[in-house]
Amino acid sequence: MCAYVYDREVLRARAAALKAALPAGAELLYAVKANGHPDVVATLAAATDGLEVASGGELALAQAAGARQIAFGGPAKTDASLRAAVAAGALVHAESALELHRLSHIGDVAVALRVNRRDGGLPGSHQMAGAPTPFGIDEAELPAVVALARTLPHIRLIGFHLHAVSNNLDGARHAAFVDDALRWSVATAASLGIALEYVNVGGGFGVDYTGPATFDTAPLAAIVPPDGVRLVFEPGRWLAADAGWYAAEVLDLKHTHGRWFAVLRGGTHHFRLPAAWGYSHPFTVLPVPDWPHPYPRPSVAEVPVDAVGELCTPRDVLTRGQWVDRLRVGDVLVFGRAGAYGWDISHHEFLRHPPPQMFVV
Ligand SMILES: Cc1ncc(COP(=O)(O)O)c(C=O)c1O
Repeated sequence: MCAYVYDREVLRARAAALKAALPAGAELLYAVKANGHPDVVATLAAATDGLEVASGGELALAQAAGARQIAFGGPAKTDASLRAAVAAGALVHAESALELHRLSHIGDVAVALRVNRRDGGLPGSHQMAGAPTPFGIDEAELPAVVALARTLPHIRLIGFHLHAVSNNLDGARHAAFVDDALRWSVATAASLGIALEYVNVGGGFGVDYTGPATFDTAPLAAIVPPDGVRLVFEPGRWLAADAGWYAAEVLDLKHTHGRWFAVLRGGTHHFRLPAAWGYSHPFTVLPVPDWPHPYPRPSVAEVPVDAVGELCTPRDVLTRGQWVDRLRVGDVLVFGRAGAYGWDISHHEFLRHPPPQMFVV
């Protein structure tokens, strides 16, 4: 037994809570990359103001989900995906001068420039701005890129995209970042002669997988966007993480060199996040009373166990050393907060085990 469960009610509740916490008039997009299951995408398309997509595949999902608006971003866009975005009437977050040239050969399009600012970074596990990264246009090059945009007949420059980080847990710092992003955008637009309509501050609201911390959304409410400027957020993790559970049956229990291992029907090829980030993802034991076999049922009690997967690699580890009161072969381990960057970032085909069942409730 091995499954993902996604809960639409939780998705709707998260979206409603975030909408209520954002400054009045701000727009909320869902970053599809966090979880592209069509039912998740459709649920969040209905519960938010639109979707942020980062590939032609996500764009197609967003269109199928009936998104009210689509923003198309990402550092490596193909001509085919740019054509599809323009045809879909998406707003494009452009990341380079070359991308503007390519877009202008496709058709009329509204564009926000993604900028990697000199400052304007944030704490968090995945820094994308305020540091050397392949994302966006270096702030020093912005005047030249804006000058180029003015010469391109089909490009309508409407503002900036300033996504800076993923998984920031500090709500007050995040609100200060947004304030600063707005101030910077107004000043930069004025100095470069852009009629500012749009500032997208990205996503990045964090989720604490191993402890009790929560991202405090309250400080965001105090932000006041300048008149006539759309302030747009595009989180993924915060909306989807709590709406997903990954469940895997214990296939064997082993003791080697002083450690207990619960070997699962599943693993990091389904839920890669803990291995990718190098942390231990907590689980809950779901006891399964049935044992329909004539041979004895292996079991442990009051020991720490490592939850490991079915792959032939010592890196296939979801959890290290979690205490269990009792655990038997045939019980199921349930990993909560698996709704974002879980299945979607995992290397599904490695070893060709069957995929997990997907349940959407
Ligand atoms: C451009 C962009 N927008 C939004 C997101 C969503 O970020 P998060 O899931 O941390 O909210 C990401 C993720 O890295 C991103 O790259």
